[in-house]
Amino acid sequence: MSITTGDFRAKITASTLLEKKQRQEIITCLTAYDYASARLVDEAGIDIVLVGDSLAMVMLGYENTLPVTMREMLHHTRAVRRGVKRAFLVADMPFASYHLSLRESLRNAARFIKEAGAEAVKIEGGEKRAHLVERMVEAEIPVVGHIGLTPQSVHAMGGYKVQGKTLQAVEQLMHDALALERAGACCVVLEGIPREVAAMITHELEIPTIGIGAGPECDGQVLVFHDLLGLTFSPPAKFVRRYADVGSVIGNALLAFKDDVKSGGYPSDAESYHLPKETLAALQTIRPQQPQNRRLLGAPIAERKRAVPV
Ligand code: KIV
Repeated sequence: MSITTGDFRAKITASTLLEKKQRQEIITCLTAYDYASARLVDEAGIDIVLVGDSLAMVMLGYENTLPVTMREMLHHTRAVRRGVKRAFLVADMPFASYHLSLRESLRNAARFIKEAGAEAVKIEGGEKRAHLVERMVEAEIPVVGHIGLTPQSVHAMGGYKVQGKTLQAVEQLMHDALALERAGACCVVLEGIPREVAAMITHELEIPTIGIGAGPECDGQVLVFHDLLGLTFSPPAKFVRRYADVGSVIGNALLAFKDDVKSGGYPSDAESYHLPKETLAALQTIRPQQPQNRRLLGAPIAERKRAVPV
């Protein structure tokens, strides 16, 4: 594989993302949580694959992102690593894995790189995380920031609410974004903020902004894999565009399988393995075909039920 720039298969790094911003080339980002989704996203040419802690909800069925553990995040990141070749692979640090001691936060961040193959970690919070971001960058761990509606602060925010609606809040968001940039973050996710605010931050920062519910002026856009594909069980947020209804496709396939199995339509003879002709002939000489053993010799299920005496 070529590593020259311009080759659409060239490996994406933190520097590529910066260059894309400088060239005003839009950055694409999607979440992935396992090998199959990672391969699909990577092979579609998406720039950043994020192992989001949204996996707590869409993969593990938790109510919010708070319960997901380091162990679970590492497990999913390893699977995604095996499916990603080109994209920049970012892993979300779960709630409480970087909120307590500095030492523990750094150790946890390093585990994503060393044990799971991530190329950067993402942490939520602005100014108050700047020192931590600096220390991570010093430890050669690239960091993606995340400000605005930060789902790990759901209780502190009093729900999932659009942030940055007052002048004071806009000013704070700008401080947060600049503090992350100064601390060395390689890009910053802007979630759930007014389009106008995201546009100002994007203009002010040298590093790329990746928006989700933050309007079209961001340097890139991210969506949750399951939202984009219609694989969720609750109504989507305003900013979600569903590009497919994979939930219905899967549901219909499952019903068709159930009907086929129940009616004896699956598996067919063509979908079955067969004895070699000689073995079958030998078997028939020692076990002449009786209603009972026609099961072995290929009577379909509907007949089989009738043939086996009860
Ligand atoms: O966890 C996640 O999926 C995220 C993105 C939505 C940005 O943080």
